[in-house]
Formats: sequence, structure tokens, C-alpha cells
Amino acid sequence: MKQQYKQITSLVPKPFVKWAGGKRQLLPILSQYVPQNFDTYFEPFLGGGAVLFHLIFQKPHLECFVSDLNSTLILSYVTIRDNVDELIITLEKHSENYFKNPEEYYYRIRECNPKNQIDKVSRLVFLNKTCFNGLYRVNSKGKFNVPIGRYVNPNIVNKENLLAVSHVLQSKEISIKCEDFTTSLKRAQKDDFVYLDPPYQPVSSTANFTSYTNDSFSLKDQERLFAEFQKLDSKGCKVMLSNSKSEEVIDLFSEYSDNVIEINTNRFINSNSKKRTGHTEILVKNY
Ligand SMILES: C[S@@+](CC[C@H](N)C(=O)[O-])C[C@H]1O[C@@H](n2cnc3c(N)ncnc32)[C@H](O)[C@@H]1O
Repeated sequence: MKQQYKQITSLVPKPFVKWAGGKRQLLPILSQYVPQNFDTYFEPFLGGGAVLFHLIFQKPHLECFVSDLNSTLILSYVTIRDNVDELIITLEKHSENYFKNPEEYYYRIRECNPKNQIDKVSRLVFLNKTCFNGLYRVNSKGKFNVPIGRYVNPNIVNKENLLAVSHVLQSKEISIKCEDFTTSLKRAQKDDFVYLDPPYQPVSSTANFTSYTNDSFSLKDQERLFAEFQKLDSKGCKVMLSNSKSEEVIDLFSEYSDNVIEINTNRFINSNSKKRTGHTEILVKNY
């Protein structure tokens, strides 16, 4: 038993949900630009947490302030940290019921609106593992409206990973909050490292997907974020931002143009060239 637990806790934790804009596949390139030395880590647009998990596996005692405006997502992190066993049992029940009649069960769970914490979180993880494209997307009324995905055998309960995630999140050094990015960033100080991965500014009228939460992220929000970037820069923080290579973003960050890196995501997103849907995005740094 001890041996099994040891194996689980030495697993590299990975995101427990697939998240729109998730950075797992870009980690090989993003990690090249993470500063060598810094004090505290800030990630105020946490999403699936790919970068957080990567960093804390490398530096287990890293002090981190992570947050997101999506309250059910943050509730999921807190539940996995504090109550992973109960969550696994509930997910196992979802899995059993799903395989009896996938379509009927999926839509039944999609329509329900649980009030209790474990049921809310297990619903999010269950829908994320079984919905079309595995993407969390709510409509303007805050309703999850994605149809069922075409999976033969979805892995609804990834127990090893949930335990590994729970283990790393139990570190007293990690603060997890549901809040707007500006609130979280007030705590950042000189020599801290801040990674900003906001909903991307659309590059064309067809690519206007920004609704991870109820409220979309407007150009005003991108401007607010730029002001925050400047503030952090003048405090002496090391700041790295991901965004689309859109005119608006290039204009906003023009004073940092010497430190803009273009990333062609084709190289990272899909090894099968026929399925590639990549595009060019940018990283802006102040160091
Ligand atoms: C591109 S995703 C982050 C993806 C993440 N890096 C990953 O690897 O999964 C953007 C995130 O910003 C969050 N968000 C949107 N508006 C926000 C705000 N005003 N403050 C903080 N988080 C916000 C969304 O809920 C979403 O999870």
C-alpha cells in the first residue's frame, strides 16, 4: 500500500480537466522562457493549471498564488486538495451510470444543477471527460451547453492523476482563490514571477471564443491587463504573457516589442499534419 502511494505521489500531476486555451502542449516551449530564478509564482488565469503543475513538480516548495474567475473550477481545485477520496467515489458512480446508457446519462447530468460541493465538482469533471471536444463552455446564462462527445471509452476517473494533483495541492505554499486577476496581482512583489494567460483577444470575427466564464473578456479587459503588466514591470516582477497575435494586442504591448516571441502552434498542437489547426500566438516578456 505504501509502495503504491509512493508511486502515485511521484507521478507528474497533469491538468485534471481539458481547458480551452490549455497550455499542456506548449509546455516544451513555454518552459524555455521561465526565468531561472524567482521568488513567488503567480498565475491569475489558472484554467487547467498546466504551467502550475509543471513548475511545482520541478520546485516542490515553490510559494504560489493561483486564481481564476471561474468559481466551479476553483471549487474543483479546493475539493481535489481537501476531499479527493469522496470525489473519486462520486466520479466512479458517474462512470458506472454513464456506461449503462451514455447519451441518456450525459444529458441528465448536463441538465441538473447540484447544490452540494462534491456533486458540483464531479459534474464538472464528468462533463469535461465526456462532452464534445472536452471543452468547458457556458452560454450567456451561465449554462453548460456542449453536446455529448464521441468517445468509445472515456477515462472518467483518472484516479492516479487525481491523487497526484491532490498531493501537490496540499502544499501549504499554494494559495488557490476565485478572484479577478487584478486582486491577485496586488500581492506580487519584486523578483516574483507572474505568468498571464488570459482569454485571447480574437483575431477575426469568426474566432470570437472568449467565454470560459459568464462574462467574456473584452478589449477593455485586455487594456486593464496591459495596465497591470506595466505595474508589475515597474515593481520589478518578472512577467510573461500569452495572447493571440492580434493587432490590438501587438499595439497595446508595443513598448515591449523587443521582447515579443512568436509561437507557431502548428509545431506543437498535432503531430498529424491533416489535423493541425494551429495558428501563431505570442509571448510577451519584460525580462
Ligand atoms: C486561456 S484560459 C487559461 C488556460 C490555462 N493556462 C491552462 O493551461 O489551462 C483563461 C482563463 O482565464 C479565466 N478568466 C477569465 N476572465 C478572468 C478574470 N477577469 N480574472 C481572472 N481569470 C479570468 C477563465 O476562467 C479561464 O480559465
